[in-house]
Formats: sequence, structure tokens, C-alpha cells
Amino acid sequence: MRILTFGQTGQLAKALKRTQPGYFELIQLTHQQVNITQPQLINEALARYQPDIIINCAAYTDVERAESNATQVMQTNVDAVRFMAKAARQYGIRFIQLSTDYVFDGLSSLPYTVHQTPSAINVYGQSKLLAENIILQQQSSQFCIVRTSWLYHHSGKNFVTTMLKLMSQAHHSAMLTQGLISNINVVNDQTGSPTMVDDLAHFLWKLCLQKQWLPIYHWSDAGMCTWYEFAKEIQSQAEALGLIPATITLTPVTSEQYNSRVKRPTFSVLDTSRSQSILKSKTWQQQLAQCLYARSLNKD
Ligand SMILES: NC(=O)c1ccc[n+]([C@@H]2O[C@H](COP(=O)([O-])OP(=O)(O)OC[C@H]3O[C@@H](n4cnc5c(N)ncnc54)[C@H](OP(=O)(O)O)[C@@H]3O)[C@@H](O)[C@H]2O)c1
Repeated sequence: MRILTFGQTGQLAKALKRTQPGYFELIQLTHQQVNITQPQLINEALARYQPDIIINCAAYTDVERAESNATQVMQTNVDAVRFMAKAARQYGIRFIQLSTDYVFDGLSSLPYTVHQTPSAINVYGQSKLLAENIILQQQSSQFCIVRTSWLYHHSGKNFVTTMLKLMSQAHHSAMLTQGLISNINVVNDQTGSPTMVDDLAHFLWKLCLQKQWLPIYHWSDAGMCTWYEFAKEIQSQAEALGLIPATITLTPVTSEQYNSRVKRPTFSVLDTSRSQSILKSKTWQQQLAQCLYARSLNKD
């Protein structure tokens, strides 16, 4: 079975490459090879490679910058998905669209099910929601949406690697200022579920083997936490592995104190029960342990 992904350099595309089972053929196209905002390039790629399934890993994902770049966000996250869906139908190709917990407004206090009506509160979330509607309009078991949240890996740029970097830098600046304890502020009023990106990739591979799809799946690691709780766990596990020094204080702050221009959902945990028969989620703490252990083996 031949799978094609757009967005080869992204976190998820790389995870698909790392976890690719031998019986799949994987074709990954870079932004340079196919700018997904150009419909003729999408068409040419599909005609040339004739994949069985497209997994769209390409997106404008910078939530902060999206607020002031709405046109580009809509072109990348909405118009391109419309082109892909149209071409996929034309060529008889199955299509998996990645989406996000940020399609929800965060007013719930219970995990969001696949049946709940989304309502996004920022430009990025709105664009991903519009893309979801394009997929749902197809009314086809050959098209589906996979929502996920808080992706990370032990390499690349994500919350875990950023925290490890900040914790190390804070230690060095504390050394320079005669051993003062350094402090990092972390938001403590947004709750979600971290997702180790390799397990999302494993889930997607299993999904590719299903003959028919339901319209929406949710995938994340099991359990929930705030960004602050996630950072505390990163700190405690990373200290135990000797990845960071034990001199950093983490301070919980509110979203308002954090001074971001983006509204983010205060609660965006996804109910993944539908997906558990396809692959069972591990707890986010277990996944983090696996990720940091891997990091300790090849520090980069
Ligand atoms: N990261 C998260 O925490 C998270 C959470 C929930 C859902 N998701 C969703 O999961 C999916 C994968 O996310 P990710 O974290 O792997 O994203 P990512 O690391 O930001 O990668 C995005 C990819 O899209 C490519 N891209 C951007 N604009 C493009 C264009 N016009 N044409 C072709 N390629 C383009 C980028 O290429 P360049 O870098 O070369 O521009 C990059 O390879 C996305 O749909 C995202 O919305 C992510």
C-alpha cells in the first residue's frame, strides 16, 4: 500500500518515517517539492505517485503567528485541504486529514468526544475547523479526520525540547549570577493531553489498514495535565536521568500573566475511546519516560 504525505519536514511526517512498517511504501513530499497552496502541484503529485492514501501532515501550525497571518493560514490549512479533497475524490485516493484539540473552545470540563460540536477560539483553530468541514462534507468512509493534541518528541522543536533547553540555559545563567536559583514561568490554567508523536504515527499506520473509516478519530496519550504539570514531570524525570541540573524553579502562572496574544482553550482533552480498539494509548507519563530515555541515549 502506497502512502503519500505532504509536509515532509514536520514532526508528524518525520514520525511516520521513523515508524514506517515494511509493508507500506511511503512517499513524502517537501514544501519545496509541493507547495500545497498550488492546486496544480497537488494534482501533478497525485497523478505521478498514485498513492492509495494521502496523510496530510502539512499545515500552518504556528498558533501565535497565525493571529496576524490569517490569509496565509487559511490558504494553507483550508484552501489546500479543499484542493486535496477534490483531487483525492477524482483519483479515488483515501484521505486522512490531521486536526487539533484547538477546534474546541475549552469550556467543557470533560474530555471532548467525537460527537461534540466544535467551536474554535483562535485563527489556527478556526482554520482547522473549516478544513474538518470540507472532509465531513465528502460524506465518505474513505475520508477521515484525526484530531490530536500537544505533540512532542525527544528531538526537534516542541514543548519538551524547549523546556529541556530552557532548564539548561536557566542553570547556566544562574551559574553566571553566582548560583542564584533560576525560574521559569509555565502556564497552569490550560489542561490538555500530551501526545508522543511516534504513537500518533503508529495509530495512523493502523488506521491505514482499516478498509472503512468513521468520520472522526481522537488520538492522544492517556491522562491529562496542565502545561505546568507537564513541565514539572519533564523536570523530575529529566533530573533523574541527569539530563538537566537540579537548580531550576518552575512557577505556575495564568494565561493572562503569560502575556500571549492568542486565546487558547482552557480545557482541550480529547476523549479517545473510539480509537482505543485500534491502538491502546499509554499514559503521558510513560510516554515521557520513554522519550527522555531516548534523549539520554543520543543527546542532541
Ligand atoms: N504540533 C502539535 O502540537 C499539534 C497538535 C494538534 C494537531 N496538530 C496537527 O498535526 C499535523 C502535523 O503537525 P506537526 O506538528 O507535524 O506540524 P509541523 O511540525 O509544524 O510541520 C508542518 C509541515 O507543514 C509544512 N508546510 C507548511 N506550509 C506548507 C505549504 N504551503 N506547502 C507544503 N508544506 C507546507 C512545513 O514545511 P516547512 O517547515 O518547510 O514550511 C512542515 O513540514 C498538523 O495538521 C497540525 O495542525 C499538531
